[in-house]
Amino acid sequence: MNTESLEKHFNDKIEEDIRIEPKDWMPEKYRKTLIRQISQHAHSEIVGMLPEANWITRAPTLRRKAAALAKVQDEAGHGLYLYSACETLGVERDDLLADLHSGKAKYSSIFNYPTLTWADMGAIGWLVDGAAIMNQVPLCRASYGPYARAMVRICKEESFHQRQGYEIMLTLCKGSEEQKNMAQDALNRWWWPSLMMFGPTDKDSKHTADSMRWGIKRFTNDELRQKFVDVTVPQADILGLTVPDKDLKWNEESGHYDFGEINWEEFYNVISGNGPCNRERLEARRNAHDKGEWVREAAQAYAEKKSRNKAA
Ligand code: 3HC
Repeated sequence: MNTESLEKHFNDKIEEDIRIEPKDWMPEKYRKTLIRQISQHAHSEIVGMLPEANWITRAPTLRRKAAALAKVQDEAGHGLYLYSACETLGVERDDLLADLHSGKAKYSSIFNYPTLTWADMGAIGWLVDGAAIMNQVPLCRASYGPYARAMVRICKEESFHQRQGYEIMLTLCKGSEEQKNMAQDALNRWWWPSLMMFGPTDKDSKHTADSMRWGIKRFTNDELRQKFVDVTVPQADILGLTVPDKDLKWNEESGHYDFGEINWEEFYNVISGNGPCNRERLEARRNAHDKGEWVREAAQAYAEKKSRNKAA
């Protein structure tokens, strides 16, 4: 088949919602944008472990500590699924990690904010994992098979993450005045960065049009952001907390919440490496990678010994 008929065959499959698998022909631009998005998604999971790991030793009860441990371990697993999905596109995991550690690769802006109090653990589960679920559930129907399948397992675990976070917030809001204030302070600090997780507005997004055409994205950045606001504001009401947006108002006509302007200067500042914790996060990632060298060598030696024994 010549490239023209290969392209037509690919587009027909996208049209008919037939999954694209690793061995299928795909346009180079499709493959490249998948590598870009999946690798950044994987980096986000791995870096996303850091802000919460900060509170494992400080969790107020054994139950909270166990949940925090389980969540951070889940995020590591999510990263591994996604690196594996990315490798099916013909890239090396070592190269992806080198791009992360050099600062060349992006990861989600949200993980460049500090976790200052225990309430941040609640706000991250409730808002950050809540936003992640909003964005990741449609990815279970992404046109690229390995990515979609990785997301199915990940989304099941995300709902536990969101629920345990919301329960932390509920406990604090039913507690002392100081605890409720701590929850409100966390909402104040995590609300707008959570909205930024969905990416630039549709008019400024450089990849959304292609990603929608190729069935990688099923909704645009603004559509998912709006869904997140519509679902989350009533949850804040139940907590008795105030969303820090003076322009937030229910719009009877549209059936959605109108909300204020996002600080895009802050967003682009953070994604270009100048957020509150960017340097600290990359430092921690490079350290962990270097300290983990012996584990990788041992696993490699074991695998080689096993395959030698098998061959003998
Ligand atoms: N943080 C960092 N970079 C971002 C970003 C964010 N929140 N939003 C957008 N960007 C970057 C994009 O990567 C792109 O830069 P690039 O060309 O250098 O890659 C640029 O800004 C333009 O944005 P676009 O909207 O055009 O880019 P996308 O079409 O890729 O949309 C996205 C951005 C919505 C984040 C999309 O990549 C996506 O859906 N990714 C998969 C989900 C994901 O990565 N979520 C991150 C959080 S994971 C998480 O929360 C884990 C949970 O367990 C806590």
